Amino acid sequence: MADLSVTIAGVPFKNPVIAASGCFGFGLEYEDFFPLEALGGVSLKGTTLEARAGNRPPRIAETPAGMLNSVGLQNPGIDAFLREELPKIAGRDVVRIANIAGRSPAEYRELAERLRGAAVDLIEVNISCPNVREGGAAFGATCEGAVSVVREVKKAAGQPVVVKLTPAAADIAEIARAVESEGADAVSLINTLLGMRIDLESRRPVLRNNFGGLSGPALLPVALRMVWQVSHAVKIPVIGMGGVSSGRDAVEMFLAGASAVQVGAALFRDPFAPVKIIGEMNAWCDTHGVEYVRDLRGAASLWEDDPDWRLL
Ligand code: FUM
Repeated sequence: MADLSVTIAGVPFKNPVIAASGCFGFGLEYEDFFPLEALGGVSLKGTTLEARAGNRPPRIAETPAGMLNSVGLQNPGIDAFLREELPKIAGRDVVRIANIAGRSPAEYRELAERLRGAAVDLIEVNISCPNVREGGAAFGATCEGAVSVVREVKKAAGQPVVVKLTPAAADIAEIARAVESEGADAVSLINTLLGMRIDLESRRPVLRNNFGGLSGPALLPVALRMVWQVSHAVKIPVIGMGGVSSGRDAVEMFLAGASAVQVGAALFRDPFAPVKIIGEMNAWCDTHGVEYVRDLRGAASLWEDDPDWRLL
């Protein structure tokens, strides 16, 4: 058995597989399938200051290799999160990650303040949700926006801060560098990519919100490319996500430079997906003589005859 343990921003994970925010509720949705402790970590549903009902339905659409969602950050708000949701998983042996989303840098700061002393190990700052009118990916698309949020969060946070990045940025590596210099302890990427589907009969978008975030296997190559770029631009750890559906996908993420992976859409096809991924990573490491999964991080090399790979 390989050693799958990793450490992100000083927080130890027993294995590098984390349930992605928005796909695992507040930690107990998959208890009928496997115990929460099987996972390295869980990123809880994006939480805002006030409760949100989310966008109007339909807010899920299938795509050939994934799905669109336009949930719109439906959540009970930080009070209910702290009072009702978090206590249910407080004693569990899993890294708990609170995912926060605000409409302004001040709101993000207040959310981080409210989490001080709470039973969460990391704060994931969601500046990448494409489904909200205010905030979300609008902050993550520019260095100024991203920095304005991270600056406020770092003033208040009692836990290490992971910044969740959007593929909508023109240069995601530049955003990662900017948040690193503002004190981010890690980055996670990529959130969903904005897309749409059109119903042929009504000639209207399938989603009531018109557009929604694409996730699932279609995203994997884009995510790998961005994880590669970001991990070569910053020194802080990178958590890779976007279409990870198998142990081989997770190993690819490590080779591109990730220190851990998040699994989201795969859960909707197979609720056992994260547990299978952990097993497949272990098997892959065993057959390839890899003792420590962390040794795979960034172990891929580009072809040397194309030094300026960005122009390809
Ligand atoms: O719409 C949503 O709730 C999605 C959130 C996210 O992508 O971060």
